[in-house]
Amino acid sequence: MRRNCDASVGECDDFGRLEPKPTTKNSRLRRAQADPEPRFPPETAVYGRRRRTRLDYHGQVTTQTRPSPPLYFNHGGCSFTTTSTLDAVVKQLRLEQALGNSVADLTSSADRSRVYTLAAQALSADAANIALTDSHTTGWAKALQTISLNAGDVILTSRSEWGGNLSALQKLAQRHGSSVVVIPTAADGSVCLKSLATLMNKSVKLISVSWIGSNGGHVEPVAEIGQLARAHGVPFFLDASQVVGQLPVDVKHIGCDVLTTPGRKWLRGPKGTGFMYLRPEYLAKCQVTAQADKGLDSSTPLTVKHFEASSASAPLQMGLLAALVQLEQVGVEAVQKQILTRSQYLWERLKGIPGVNCICPVAPQHGLVAFNVVGQAATAVRQKLMDIGIEVAANQAAFTPLDMHERQLDAVVRASPHACTTTDEIDQLIGAVRLISQRRG
Ligand SMILES: Cc1ncc(COP(=O)(O)O)c(C=O)c1O
Repeated sequence: MRRNCDASVGECDDFGRLEPKPTTKNSRLRRAQADPEPRFPPETAVYGRRRRTRLDYHGQVTTQTRPSPPLYFNHGGCSFTTTSTLDAVVKQLRLEQALGNSVADLTSSADRSRVYTLAAQALSADAANIALTDSHTTGWAKALQTISLNAGDVILTSRSEWGGNLSALQKLAQRHGSSVVVIPTAADGSVCLKSLATLMNKSVKLISVSWIGSNGGHVEPVAEIGQLARAHGVPFFLDASQVVGQLPVDVKHIGCDVLTTPGRKWLRGPKGTGFMYLRPEYLAKCQVTAQADKGLDSSTPLTVKHFEASSASAPLQMGLLAALVQLEQVGVEAVQKQILTRSQYLWERLKGIPGVNCICPVAPQHGLVAFNVVGQAATAVRQKLMDIGIEVAANQAAFTPLDMHERQLDAVVRASPHACTTTDEIDQLIGAVRLISQRRG
């Protein structure tokens, strides 16, 4: 900040623009901006200005003294970062501001290569087979460009396939006179392996499966699907958006060719991060059809780098690194156990409320608990919960269209606790749902 020649008027900012002299009002604003502890505007007071006991990432009890965000049950949509993850993002942003982008990138290059190592570790993969992305969709869509189809070819998919994947598959198939076939299911809605085995033939050019559907329910038998895919030499794309960070993943055991995940969900990384695994034997067989963002042209062999953006955000990647470090420290098995304890506690109690229908008839094996309140729209239930500072998701049929159609549902309320969710918070959610189910309208 440079002093303006007329000190009574104000100061110039870094761009030489005049900033008004601080008055009591805007000096308060500046203090607030400089304050690392967020101050919530009065209208969000409903989300709590009280001291709240929370669990940290490790499930240890901590007392939060600053204003709390809503009781948060949407980790399956987008989790919130821990303070050290946020600090890592800010630190890199400050480095960029102080040194400029290139020098900042160089300064943090060792840490940035650790992102690959830890992302690979989360998938039991090798770092050389990981590409960093900004979401599930960007990686998955680029991978889809490696699939070439002819008239009569078939893509096989699961009933709980993510809606975005499904529509891309359908459009691709339509363009080439091919078709998308939904693999028949077992009683719980998961892929029926016997049926899949009978569907496998030379015209099958891709199997695309979402490991856990966005609207909750079963977990797909991905290792068995991978085995069939490998046996028939069919590419297998696995959407692990609802898995990475909450369940152990071993891509070599599964035998998938492509696995994609965002960083913002169960990994608790910043929004705008993600990564993907590409099986090296698959890449070696592919044509360079993926967009070569990194200045790589079609004469270079296809590598994981073809799947990355040329100007990724280093601050966000540093945040992802911090989140991966925390996962590594705690261990995914411990996180899984904590999530399951919470989601099953929630499911068990919701199931006992008259007028509440849990979508999953058996205890969930993951953190997604989907339900409906009889006679009330999912969006209305979500709004009522939001009004008292409880955040859940209201997922529309478009999230998993085939599964929702089969279950004759147009939307579900989805509550997704994480390891940092307390029993007290879950009890508050249960109490609120009980009240909502008693008072219609
Ligand atoms: C199973 C599944 N796949 C894909 C997505 C979308 O991920 P992204 O927004 O990172 O592309 C979601 C988001 O909720 C999801 O649940």
